[in-house]
Amino acid sequence: MIRLIEVHKSFGPQKVLDGLNLEIERGKTTVIIGRSGGGKSVLLKHVIGLLKPDSGQVLIDGVDITKLNDRELNEIRKKFGMLFQEAALFDSMTVGENVAFPLREHTKMKEDEIRDTVAERLRVVGLKGVETKMPSELSGGMRKRVGLARAIALRPQIVLFDEPTTGLDPVMTEAVNQLIMDTQRSFDLTCVVISHDVQSIFRIGQKIAMLHEGRIIACGTPDVIETSDNPVIRQFLAGSIEGPIKIM
Ligand SMILES: Nc1ncnc2c1ncn2[C@@H]1O[C@H](COP(=O)(O)OP(=O)(O)OP(=O)(O)O)[C@@H](O)[C@H]1O
Ligand SMILES: [Mg+2]
Repeated sequence: MIRLIEVHKSFGPQKVLDGLNLEIERGKTTVIIGRSGGGKSVLLKHVIGLLKPDSGQVLIDGVDITKLNDRELNEIRKKFGMLFQEAALFDSMTVGENVAFPLREHTKMKEDEIRDTVAERLRVVGLKGVETKMPSELSGGMRKRVGLARAIALRPQIVLFDEPTTGLDPVMTEAVNQLIMDTQRSFDLTCVVISHDVQSIFRIGQKIAMLHEGRIIACGTPDVIETSDNPVIRQFLAGSIEGPIKIM
């Protein structure tokens, strides 16, 4: 469903993506792992067209989105939902207005349809009836769930999650992981999840891809990754200071 081919991206002298290749399968959850600052968020932004590569292709259902103009890109973006790092809710809007936002932006739904859809999406994420609350009144975990409700508001085919469980306690982490797995199944989504959290990676990933020095150096099922003898993967999973992953 998604293919990145030989993607290069630098910011000034800093090379972040260095001929990256990745294939993401439809209807599965692919987790992308790699060290902090390694380019995971940059990679995700290429998938949704928020960043353009210096060279290379980003194919969504066979369409190279790097060649599209803003209007065409907007059309393609309707296939996507995105849960940004830190949920990124609009603080001046109520929860209900946050979830309604993509519906107002991208559809011609009537107000009562919007209201029903918002209520349904909030119910899916276990937050029935919180429409009138402000984001500041919610806990971190609840904000993530509102972010997820907003990400799935348009019934996207693909949802991108940038570190959905970072900063949550183990119980809330499990709740958010469950929620990702449940929504993936019930909407038959293609999910791409960035995560550092080794437990979450193996809990939700059907495919795991390791980003290292600007490339995907391994991609496989959790079993394959867990038993890999690649020193980069071993170091990452063990959380060891010694190895090919440089700290600075
Ligand atoms: N818009 C930008 N302009 C300049 N440099 C950028 C930009 N976006 C990202 N970078 C740089 O690219 C590198 C990769 O950043 P990125 O946010 O993708 O890392 P990450 O793997 O998501 O890290 P983390 O796990 O900490 O979120 C960083 O060195 C960052 O400073
Ligand atoms: Mg990031």
